[in-house]
Amino acid sequence: MNSADLRKKFLEFFKKNEHTVVPSSSLLPTDPSVLFTTAGMQQFKPYYTGDADAMKDFGSLSTASVQKSMRTSDIEEVGDDTHDTFFEMLGNFSFGGYWKKEAITYAFEFIASVVGLEISYVTVFEGSDVVPKDEESKEIWKSLGVTDIREEGMEDVFWGPTGNNGPCGPTTEIYCKNANGIDVEIWNIVFNEFFCDGSREQLLAGEAKLTPLEKKGIDTGMGLERLAMVAQKTTNIFDTDLFLPILDQVPDADLRLRRIVADHLRSAIFLIADGVLPSNKDQGYILRRLLRRAMTYGRMHHFKKEIVDNIVEATLSIYEGTYKELEEKKEHVLSVIHEEGRKFGETLEKGLKELEKMENIDAKSAFFLYQTFGVPFDILKELSGKEINQKAFEDELKKHQELSKTASAGMFKGGLADHDEKTIRLHTAHHLLLSALQELFGKEVKQRGSNINQERLRIDFSFSRKLTDQEKKHIEDMVNEKIQQGLDVVKREMPKEEAEKIGAEMEFGVKYNNIVSVYFIVPMPEASRIRDGEAIGKDIMDKVFSKEFCGGPHVKNTSELGHFKIVKEEASSQGVRRIKAILE
Ligand code: ALA
Repeated sequence: MNSADLRKKFLEFFKKNEHTVVPSSSLLPTDPSVLFTTAGMQQFKPYYTGDADAMKDFGSLSTASVQKSMRTSDIEEVGDDTHDTFFEMLGNFSFGGYWKKEAITYAFEFIASVVGLEISYVTVFEGSDVVPKDEESKEIWKSLGVTDIREEGMEDVFWGPTGNNGPCGPTTEIYCKNANGIDVEIWNIVFNEFFCDGSREQLLAGEAKLTPLEKKGIDTGMGLERLAMVAQKTTNIFDTDLFLPILDQVPDADLRLRRIVADHLRSAIFLIADGVLPSNKDQGYILRRLLRRAMTYGRMHHFKKEIVDNIVEATLSIYEGTYKELEEKKEHVLSVIHEEGRKFGETLEKGLKELEKMENIDAKSAFFLYQTFGVPFDILKELSGKEINQKAFEDELKKHQELSKTASAGMFKGGLADHDEKTIRLHTAHHLLLSALQELFGKEVKQRGSNINQERLRIDFSFSRKLTDQEKKHIEDMVNEKIQQGLDVVKREMPKEEAEKIGAEMEFGVKYNNIVSVYFIVPMPEASRIRDGEAIGKDIMDKVFSKEFCGGPHVKNTSELGHFKIVKEEASSQGVRRIKAILE
């Protein structure tokens, strides 16, 4: 069965079983807490939480889709038999409709009867402190004649949430054998039973709470590339019809290298078609990284420029009639890749010259070449033919990643983000805004996310409804009043307990050291007392307008800020609102 047939048969099967077929959403999700669409369920998040009504929007409680998806966490593994970055996910979903019995039976029928594959084994949830063992799924599998049923835990068979919070639950997975007889996970069936109020990391660390969802849901995901591998009886995803035409365009070289080039360019094509441009942050950074890795390999093997055009053609031919944006954006895609290639080509040349000059290449110089000229480490090693201590390089990289993670999360808590004047002013305004929100709506209003650049500040905060125009005006007035009063902004280092005792605002989900720095916004007389190290008693606290755990930096006095204005107020996710504001 070719991949076009697999997509078609999948959607037909679920349509026949009363699912509404929904088109793939973009690779760029509306959920701001994730960079890419990583699963089919993402576009349906509000239907699980009850924020949207599936019956109204789809005329059914069940949907099915083939979703363009992107996962880059395993980018270093690409080149082996089963990892890629872009992939398509086949999924069926139920929002308060059918439950375990139907979900498992559909999956079994599709795999066994429609595609005609043998299930090697399945997994079910073994149970945890808070979620019981999934006996029900086990019984259902048994009744279908599946005998190899393995129990696994939270890490493997409990899915979600994506982003900062969301629906999640135990899963059951289906494994089939590839042509080498190796078991490959092909389908993940999630029983969405809970709403998790934190991220997956927080959930695994025991720091997030699960609340039963009002309506239980089904969310399934089957990677098309892997399904094609088992259905087409190949030993790896690159020999399926979803990759082979692309791979054929990559000239003779080491197999792993050819696979990387094929994978990275295919992903880049999809990203660019969905509107991403190479840049140094967020999605643009990932795109740049994919392109640069592919290009460096190409340069090493003296690939000709025309290869890019051939790969684009091959990709288009595979997805013809499936994703029409590829055809529509073809010229744009080509020009973006060639332009990035031209720019990078110049720096890469310089980087390679530097490399030649270096007699010894240690982790620090490798990192320098990586950082300055964008020469990826794995490739650096191959090019130099020298041993470089990978662990030491990774330590350097980690230091840098910590920095960029904090910066891209828009957190100033460690004082690591962009420190230009405009951003600093907006940062101080951000503190004033949070205090104004709490003054108006109560201390239970908490910050749930933030992002600041030169143009504007953005705050996400826990609040369950739209703000009225009057409330927005009131908040603006409050912040502007504090600006006009010319309050001082002072920092004080103190033990964490003490900061907590005086009620300093902490960032949700952030771990702090024992000694923390707290920024106070307060009239001058009290400010000097804080500066002088006086104990912060009630008389000082009564005058404090804002106090937050924070690494800075800030302006010295609020009079430096200018006029504060809210430009947007909108929903961010369930129970979380978002304000964007500027200083004029
Ligand atoms: N959302 C589930 C996954 O991505 C099905 O595995």
